[in-house]
Amino acid sequence: MRTEIILKGQVLAFSRSPFDEGAPQDAAQLSEAVAMCDGLVTGTGTLKEMQMLHPLAHLVDHGDHLIMAGFVDAHVHYPQTAIIASWGKRLIDWLNAYTFPEEMRFGDRAYADQVANRYLDLTTANGTTTVCSFCTIHPESVDAIFTAAQARGQRIVAGKTCMDRNAPEGLRDTPQSAYDDSDALIARWHGVDRLSYAITPRFSPTSSPEQLDAMGALWAKHPDCLMQTHLSEQLDEIAWVKSLFPQARDYLDTYEEFGLLGARGLYGHAIHLEERERHRLREYGVALVHCPTSNTFIGSGLFDMAGLLAEGQRIGLATDTGGGSSFSMLRTMGAAYEIGQLRGTPLHAAQLLWLATMGSAASLRLEDKIGNVAVGMEADLVVLNLASTPAIAQRSSRATDLWDAVFATIMMGDDRAVAEVWIGGQVVKKSAR
Ligand code: GUN
Ligand code: ZN
Repeated sequence: MRTEIILKGQVLAFSRSPFDEGAPQDAAQLSEAVAMCDGLVTGTGTLKEMQMLHPLAHLVDHGDHLIMAGFVDAHVHYPQTAIIASWGKRLIDWLNAYTFPEEMRFGDRAYADQVANRYLDLTTANGTTTVCSFCTIHPESVDAIFTAAQARGQRIVAGKTCMDRNAPEGLRDTPQSAYDDSDALIARWHGVDRLSYAITPRFSPTSSPEQLDAMGALWAKHPDCLMQTHLSEQLDEIAWVKSLFPQARDYLDTYEEFGLLGARGLYGHAIHLEERERHRLREYGVALVHCPTSNTFIGSGLFDMAGLLAEGQRIGLATDTGGGSSFSMLRTMGAAYEIGQLRGTPLHAAQLLWLATMGSAASLRLEDKIGNVAVGMEADLVVLNLASTPAIAQRSSRATDLWDAVFATIMMGDDRAVAEVWIGGQVVKKSAR
């Protein structure tokens, strides 16, 4: 039987990017209700209009809560869930001290299943409905997250992280095994239900030229897959890359030379970019993924959002857990705002919400399916309470308009602000009604 649902509240949808010409707030429109059926949005409008369209629909009244697309987190490491907020190291030491020992455990399928489910519980509670995740070198770690997401009807992207050098014994594959394992995982998971695969060389310091070459060949074989990696996160890392690849013109060249620069590429961090790199990234129309809580937590630097947007780069937003210090995209939007302030370019609340939904969805090339509320889009929705704590309630009671109230929740909100979450037309976090 078809289950028709109507959610009533303040339903927010974007008709354009709030970074395009015009006032940012004019990029979004509000309506009173959204209808969904069989996992898809079937209409938005007044409650009366939706009830005319769906006379048998079950109505859920959310008062004046904000109803919008679920958050899309464009760069995460689900295996780092248990080591989030580990103290005092910068990137390379942080990887060696905390990350690699934890990732070693994911050859154990039972452990991988446990963390995959815990991770999806935590992110769902925070209103995130799609993630793009690195796994570990173990195929079991990929099976674990895809199996968990499939059971929840969730749209996710993930891939086996490939590393064949500068990683400890037990956490290295080879060019051939990375190719074969990734190829088999693509056959098993890519395009199954709502799942898709990202070819995932971790970053050039942990892959030999032979492995990068194998990854490039695999991407050429599967051009409809995404490819995710890291780029120019810390100055020490960049110096290391230059010493490992003395012939390379710059960091990006270590990917470009091996066929790992392409439109379906996602490059996490991208903070300390050279002119040639910016030019090539723009030319290919790749996605650069801003990871603000990670960039401050690991001490990496201040992403040039305004400059990169002005030159027409495609940008997504991400937690980068566990280098990032939060599972919450609200907290991540708040951190993006603060980094904008440090660079003298504050982002409007509409721009922050857009980055966390449409911007990230477009980075994953999924903007026709997720990231907005419109007829035919998948019914991944979040319901936000804009007065979820006493501190936020007293501030939002003074709000001059919706955006002023939304901004207070972006800056101060957490999972308590996420009243309800729907994934594929099914409620997965239910408000107390
Ligand atoms: N660069 C290579 N691997 C990682 C990782 O796991 N986290 C972050 N933040 N940067 C990386
Ligand atoms: Zn990362």
